[in-house]
Amino acid sequence: MTRKLFVTTALPYANAPFHLGHIMEYIQADIWVRHQRMSGNEVHFVGADDAHGAPIMIAAEKAGITPQEFVAQIAAGRKQYLDGFHIQFDNWHSTDGEENHQLSQDIYRKLKSAGFITSKTIEQFFDPVKNMFLPDRYIKGECPKCGAKDQYGDSCEVCSAVYAPTDLKNPYSVLTGATPVMKSSEHFFFKLSDEKCVEFLRGWALQDNRLQSEVANKCKEWLEGEGGLGDWDISRDAPYFGIEIPDQPGKYFYVWLDAPVGYLASLKNYFGKTGRDFDAFMADPTTEQIHFIGKDITYFHTLFWPAMLKFSGYKTPDNVYAHGFVTVSGEKMSKSRGTGISPLRYLEIGMNPEWLRYYFAAKLNAKVEDLDMNPEDFVARVNADLIGKYINIASRAAGFIAKRFDGIVATDWATADDAYLNNLRNVAPEIQSLFEAREYGKALRLAMEQADLVNAYVDANKPWELAKKPENDARLQEVCSRLLEAFRILTIFLKPVLPQLATQVEAQLNIAPLQWADVATPLPHQHKINPYTHLMQRVDLKIFDDLFDAPAPTTTTAAATEAANDIEALAEEIKIDDFAKVDLRIAKIVNCEHVEGSDKLLRLTLDVGEGSTRNVFSGIKSAYQPEQLIGKFTVMVANLAPRKMKFGMSEGMVLAASAADEKANPGLYILEAWPGAQPGMRVR
Ligand code: 2FM
Ligand code: ZN
Repeated sequence: MTRKLFVTTALPYANAPFHLGHIMEYIQADIWVRHQRMSGNEVHFVGADDAHGAPIMIAAEKAGITPQEFVAQIAAGRKQYLDGFHIQFDNWHSTDGEENHQLSQDIYRKLKSAGFITSKTIEQFFDPVKNMFLPDRYIKGECPKCGAKDQYGDSCEVCSAVYAPTDLKNPYSVLTGATPVMKSSEHFFFKLSDEKCVEFLRGWALQDNRLQSEVANKCKEWLEGEGGLGDWDISRDAPYFGIEIPDQPGKYFYVWLDAPVGYLASLKNYFGKTGRDFDAFMADPTTEQIHFIGKDITYFHTLFWPAMLKFSGYKTPDNVYAHGFVTVSGEKMSKSRGTGISPLRYLEIGMNPEWLRYYFAAKLNAKVEDLDMNPEDFVARVNADLIGKYINIASRAAGFIAKRFDGIVATDWATADDAYLNNLRNVAPEIQSLFEAREYGKALRLAMEQADLVNAYVDANKPWELAKKPENDARLQEVCSRLLEAFRILTIFLKPVLPQLATQVEAQLNIAPLQWADVATPLPHQHKINPYTHLMQRVDLKIFDDLFDAPAPTTTTAAATEAANDIEALAEEIKIDDFAKVDLRIAKIVNCEHVEGSDKLLRLTLDVGEGSTRNVFSGIKSAYQPEQLIGKFTVMVANLAPRKMKFGMSEGMVLAASAADEKANPGLYILEAWPGAQPGMRVR
């Protein structure tokens, strides 16, 4: 029977580009989805950006744009990653989309009328300068236990003490440096502690085959731990970038309330675009809803999310599959250690996306285990297995068929008794069920074992030897035809992992897109294939030197970061009139050059819209090459009295930022104007 599947991956926050961990999750889910499609099932695979929350609101404000614009900029960057790694979502939406507003509010209303929403007044830290309540991560202070400075509101990185933000000594707002004050406000809670909820979750989470066993055990601990589940605070006060709570002006849903609803919203948006009936699909008891997620967000997906859906009368998830993190050579990915891998860089330097898909698949299983990316291991698996075992079969056989036999495959399959071909056909159901169970590593191992047997047939029959004598032609054609049939079946086994390669093979073999059912249907007798072109290059270990991000300069070590956080004391207060005395103007750097005899200065030629240019010396040589600055728009103090310097007259000053302790943190950053600003415009 055809299954109806609704599949999602976790929705990434729309405040940064994808990292390798995102790509791994999407590849894991994409392989599963492709396997389902090859089995003839109906699959709808959707994603979206998780747009809401205080961090995104604050980042947008820093960038001087609206949160909507900020999120749109991030969203515009998604396609190149998804297309680049052959990740085929049917739809990519945003949790700020209209469907999500409507669905989240509907779920809330239904939870409320079912008696699952309660409210109470709570006290929280409030930033009196920014006029907003501070999420815990925006409060720092001294550890109440060991006195360490600059510790976050929940735990101390020095002595590991765990505490409430209100326990911090000398707390300050990370946003403004202001001392936060306690302020009370009404918050809304989802009553997870309700006995009905706990009972439902116990049944849901512990049902056979719903969750991985380690995840189910964790749920059991959460459900049965001391005090059970607490009620969940689902509201935040304005200013907040999110969805308004119905009939509660100034109150918004906490981002984790509307984020998973975004799964439904993306599906609804997709169905809207393709003329399908969302409500009917979700009401169909045969629809299966499956979420792929990272291990860090299981709590939300195995407790809050199913409970929200259940008590608002929506369909609950059928499965939630958690995976581990990606590590690089055994370590957490880290830019400063030079083990960060940018997925875009991977593509830019010409690494084949299907190498990575193959590598991840070879290392993935159904457990919640971390996956280590190791360059030597990567090269070995791609070169020795993928190319050496699989591609090798085609390169041994296809050329002869194309060149010597006009592309004609000729063998009588009905009588051909090839043990390895039968083995291949017989192992297909097992490989299929390993894909089903997300045991991709095992599936590929089995496929490669079969490829070994086929290669043994190559070695036993040596087509290159047969090709030397024309009297062996019939035998050569038969051997190579069988090899192509074996290659065709192996391609089916690998197709969920290597979709682009499979498409190339289909074109070369001149056959329709391969499905699982095609294992049993061999290439027809006298079938004509297309000329052979090489299918995949080997990977060279040296390319990894280009892949790893260059280790960040020493200025970003922990010590330097600490120094950087120690911001310089503010200068004496001034009145607006004092400020007005400083005439700041937009200046275009029309030329920039080294100054002979100076190891600190660059000579800038600035256009400040006056019809003539100005000459300014600036002590920024340590931070910039002249060519980096030419053409940029910066800000200068235009009414500074000209100064005679050793190298000539300096007619103003450009603005640059630096840390208080320039020795510990020597970065220097010249200001750059937002596009659109013109030379001579006043900055005020
Ligand atoms: O952890 C995260 O990156 C969240 N943005 C995941 C949300 S998953 C779902 F709930 F939307
Ligand atoms: Zn401490």
